[in-house]
Amino acid sequence: TQPFKIAVIGGDGVGPEVVAEGVKVLEKIQALDSSVAFTFEAFPWGCEYYLREGKMMADDGLEQLKAFDAIFLGAVGYPGVPDHISLWDLLLKIRKGFDQYVNLRPVKLLKGAPCPLKGVEREAVNMTVIRENSEGEYAGAGDWLFKGQPEEVVLQTGVFSRKGTERIIRHAFEVARKEGRSLTSISKANALNYSMVFWDQVFQEVAREYPEVVTYSYLVDAAAMFMVRDPGRFEVVVTSNLFGDILTDLGAAIAGGMGLAAGANLNPERKYPSMFEPIHGSAPDIAGQQKSNPLAAIWSASQMMDFFGREDWGAAILEAMEAVLQEEQALTPDLGGTATTSDVGDAVIAKLEALAP
Ligand code: IPM
Ligand code: MN
Repeated sequence: TQPFKIAVIGGDGVGPEVVAEGVKVLEKIQALDSSVAFTFEAFPWGCEYYLREGKMMADDGLEQLKAFDAIFLGAVGYPGVPDHISLWDLLLKIRKGFDQYVNLRPVKLLKGAPCPLKGVEREAVNMTVIRENSEGEYAGAGDWLFKGQPEEVVLQTGVFSRKGTERIIRHAFEVARKEGRSLTSISKANALNYSMVFWDQVFQEVAREYPEVVTYSYLVDAAAMFMVRDPGRFEVVVTSNLFGDILTDLGAAIAGGMGLAAGANLNPERKYPSMFEPIHGSAPDIAGQQKSNPLAAIWSASQMMDFFGREDWGAAILEAMEAVLQEEQALTPDLGGTATTSDVGDAVIAKLEALAP
């Protein structure tokens, strides 16, 4: 079989140690299943590289990554390197450069994961959040006028193109139809009188092509409240770049914490590689101590298997995670256990062995 080529960018802080566990899980799958093969190549890019070389990645970094099927990324950002450099020159550069316009973030309460919500059934927390990932509030457009003067004015412009808005909404409808679930659009047209009026209009237009999908539309403030009070209302969710960023941290909080939150940055046309990453940050305070929870990174490895068309293994990884989550001592301190990062990876591998599809 033709191996899937995976570029590994551990990045900063806890990034390398959590990604190592994700790679370990993929290697285990390769060992268990002769129809699955991977090659891994590591890239040393990130803040340490920046402090040495004056840049976050090689000048031809995107060119080097182009040849891969997927990128497995840990985390980006470290004290001493300004965020606008570390993020715009590595993480956001890849998302934008490879037109990874779909950010797919499951908000699902796995068996054994702690939920802070009272009176909510586990099954109620089960959303597929689809965040626009290429433009919107993250377009980087704006201006800074009269710097330092009393008339100072700063503009941060959201960019919502017809093409960009339509394709993310259409992708969400495809997912909802495939999953046989409802689709909720989250916007804010009552206050954002250009961007979100347009968003809502496009949502209604595309909805006409999918009469079989039940749709809902929420304002983002109300959606935030209902995600906490009644998460069962939401199944597939589509929203803008910034709203999706905020709502998926809220989603992480109701689905076991940041240590369990995964994300896929997809270029659905497969013209460029897609990127898989835990959505947590680099957590410099605990980096290098084997205290970080690798389950978010392992979940993104599961998303990678789905993306490669091996949903059987994607599902097996989640099942193995659920089995581990039910053994308290096998977990890292954020989930109340005493295990190390690599202990958790080992535990997932042991369960996978038993579950091999
Ligand atoms: C995320 C992160 C990034 C984002 C930051 C680090 C730029 O918060 O992946 O959710 O806002 O997209
Ligand atoms: Mn975020």
